[in-house]
Amino acid sequence: MLDLDLVYEASRTLRRIRPKIISKIEVEADAPCEVAQLLETIEARLDEHWAHLFGLLYRLYGQHYDFFYYIERILLTAVDSWLRRPEDLRQLDLRRENDPNWYLSERMVGGSLYVDLFSDDLNQLRDKISYLKDLGLTYVHLMPLFKDREGNSDGGYAISDYRSVNPELGTMDELRALAHDFRAVGISLVIDFVFNHTADDHDWAIRAQEGDREFMDYYHIYPDRSIPDQYEHNLREIFPTIRRGNFTWHEGMQRWVWTTFNSFQWDLKYANPEVFRAMVEEMLFLANTGVEILRLDAVAFIWKQMGTNCENLPEAHLLIQAFNTVCRIAAPGLAFKSEAIVHPDEVVKYISTNECQISYNPTLMALLWEAIATRETKLLKQSVNHRQSLWPGTVWVNYLRSHDDIGWSFDNGDAWAVGIKPDDHRDFLNSFYTGTFKGTFAAGVPFQHNTDTGDMRVSGTMASLAGLEQALASQDALLIDMALRRIRMLYGVLSSIGGIPLIFLGEEWGILNDYQYLGDKEKKDDSRWVHRPKMDWSLLNELKQQHSPRARIFREMQVLFDVRKRCAAFNGSQMRLLNTENEHVLSYLRWDEGHLLVVIANFADSEQTVNMRNLRCEGLAHFFKDTLSERMVSTHDTLDLAPYELLWLIED
Ligand code: GLC
Ligand code: GLC
Repeated sequence: MLDLDLVYEASRTLRRIRPKIISKIEVEADAPCEVAQLLETIEARLDEHWAHLFGLLYRLYGQHYDFFYYIERILLTAVDSWLRRPEDLRQLDLRRENDPNWYLSERMVGGSLYVDLFSDDLNQLRDKISYLKDLGLTYVHLMPLFKDREGNSDGGYAISDYRSVNPELGTMDELRALAHDFRAVGISLVIDFVFNHTADDHDWAIRAQEGDREFMDYYHIYPDRSIPDQYEHNLREIFPTIRRGNFTWHEGMQRWVWTTFNSFQWDLKYANPEVFRAMVEEMLFLANTGVEILRLDAVAFIWKQMGTNCENLPEAHLLIQAFNTVCRIAAPGLAFKSEAIVHPDEVVKYISTNECQISYNPTLMALLWEAIATRETKLLKQSVNHRQSLWPGTVWVNYLRSHDDIGWSFDNGDAWAVGIKPDDHRDFLNSFYTGTFKGTFAAGVPFQHNTDTGDMRVSGTMASLAGLEQALASQDALLIDMALRRIRMLYGVLSSIGGIPLIFLGEEWGILNDYQYLGDKEKKDDSRWVHRPKMDWSLLNELKQQHSPRARIFREMQVLFDVRKRCAAFNGSQMRLLNTENEHVLSYLRWDEGHLLVVIANFADSEQTVNMRNLRCEGLAHFFKDTLSERMVSTHDTLDLAPYELLWLIED
């Protein structure tokens, strides 16, 4: 169909579905005036978004003979969920529609946590709200907390039921109550939308195992190796030390199932429009519990196409745009965060107001670690220079550590451009961060070492990787001080370079690696557990001791977050590098509506000097004040920086 025909078809289809929408509204509404009001709301949203959604779905599913049947079901699913949306969330929708860029704000500071490891359960998490608030968080990502499979469930990423909370953690009502209490103190709840796969014991998978054709068509299931082998030709392996290949033999069915991650995580088949519809229903159910940001898990893998590597395909983008457009109709308060841990050119393609407004920034993450290992900023600058600024209305989530591993996903071209051999450099970084490089300060653990390709990623907590584990073991005051300075500087960059800083809870105490996972048969093969320790709340008392390293990290982080929130220049992702003429020092300008701030960060463990002439050439003021320390700086002098010193300069 031509675009024009699509618009015409979209409106014709809507005319046909409209009476069904009206009757659904009439069933829900208590009074005629309410019917009129609801109708007005939905019609306004459909005016704006329906034709777009129709076009996206047409491109994905237009070749199905029963396309119009599916499209009606999808729209009615959205309308049903919207009608069930609680009143307070409809109010939130309104506020967000009037302030669509709320997540760009300098006030945003994120944290993520596993409920069981942090607070045992949801109820006790409610008791910890004041702690989260104290730290300055305005966004809290709870790792998957839904009913998951017995035994290994990939930390909750193998979901058996998207509509019930794991009973050990609490109930759906407790989750709703938590979302409500969070919102009351200005914290947005973030939850995963694990939509690439379900657990092998999700009801759909069970029915498929029972031979129900309808549900077998929810997954990629093959009678023999012929098709899997053809696909396998172009696929990489995500967890090669756990299992080779991307398909798992299922004894019961006597068939092969596509499982990109673990053998018990069954990839959904989005080429089937019913799968899209069913997941729309699950997504909106989740939205209606009070989630404000959905973390779209494993976005890169959701569409498969023979002959390709089945990652980042154009249809994956269309699908996410379709999910997004459904939200604009049924839960417009919701924002999407993309989890694409792939090449930076691909990461950025998921980021737009039509797709994911927010995205992890895996390249910055990797390059911050790269820069403190090399004590040089050339690769970081090369990358940040053309990759950090984003389109208006979108924003990065900047992080150092998450529950996952670190992969060295920088662009090879960026590396060559600054004279670095990319593969050798990755080998160096792996050896630096797993402790085999002589003189390293880091204490990390290899993750998914693929002996065929030599690929390796790294696990470890922020503090252990940044040198605190080793320094504490040596009891050397100078090394401890260096590690703490390094940590502060890294968070100073995270909080100021553009986007939402995100910590993995425990980082604020400098939690060290925990090797106990090696004794657990469900965890021992997945080294990511080394950086997922249980919070030890008895250490809270230590935060009151002025000189403890834990207290220092906590305090300094609190100050950075607090000052960040008072600097309007930190809104959004606009940034520009400044030339420091020093390879160890990173400097950039942040601005927003007349507010301006200059960041200077020394990545070396030695003193450095910066020529401030370049700042003068920018036409900025001649005198600056560091908002963090009150230190005054003049652009007429050279600037001496202590090891790992960080400055946030405002014009004086
Ligand atoms: C995401 C999660 C990771 C999980 C994978 C499969 O990448 O962050 O922890 O293993 O998806 O769900
Ligand atoms: C998922 C995994 C992560 C891996 C990545 C590769 O995000 O969780 O470990 O590095 O996929 O794309």
